[in-house]
Amino acid sequence: MSTVNSKEGGVDERRITVTVNGEPRTAEIEPRLLLAHLLRQGLGLTGTHIGCDTTNCGACTVLYDGRPVKSCTMLAVQADGHEVTTVEGLGTPSELDPVQEGFTSEHALQCGFCTPGMMLAAKALITENPDPTEEDVRWGLSGNLCRCTGYQNIVKAVLWAAQKQRAEAAAAGTSDNAVAV
Ligand code: FES
Ligand code: FES
Repeated sequence: MSTVNSKEGGVDERRITVTVNGEPRTAEIEPRLLLAHLLRQGLGLTGTHIGCDTTNCGACTVLYDGRPVKSCTMLAVQADGHEVTTVEGLGTPSELDPVQEGFTSEHALQCGFCTPGMMLAAKALITENPDPTEEDVRWGLSGNLCRCTGYQNIVKAVLWAAQKQRAEAAAAGTSDNAVAV
């Protein structure tokens, strides 16, 4: 467990513990601190981007107990006792998440600013709906804006990731059901 402190002298503080990317993190914070700022400045997880601060762009999307939320409009104290996943926790360089593989395979990014939020929204989508239609994907990502790609390849990437995830689940199910003889 690691502890961070965002206080300035004389300010009311709260102690919170949030499980971030699987690791419990304790912080002493002002009650007004936004979750996005805790992640970026308090914990150094700068993969969570801030594009608007007004819940419009989705660049700050993280998973909160598995559900996508916009961390620029959520207080860090609301995450006390909960699990948060940022893009840093999505996969590892040697073992990418299917969503990350899909974005690579389908060339789904240009500047990359929207990409962390897009990938986390996509992860939530295909976890809840493993076999989405193109329309499902467009609807699921409708809270995330991209100024570069025109969305086409992002949609393809999410469909690619969903297929990969289904294949992996089927393979795992097959091996789980295997009978030793
Ligand atoms: S920075 Fe949160 S929605 Fe834009
Ligand atoms: S890739 Fe640039 S904003 Fe989406």
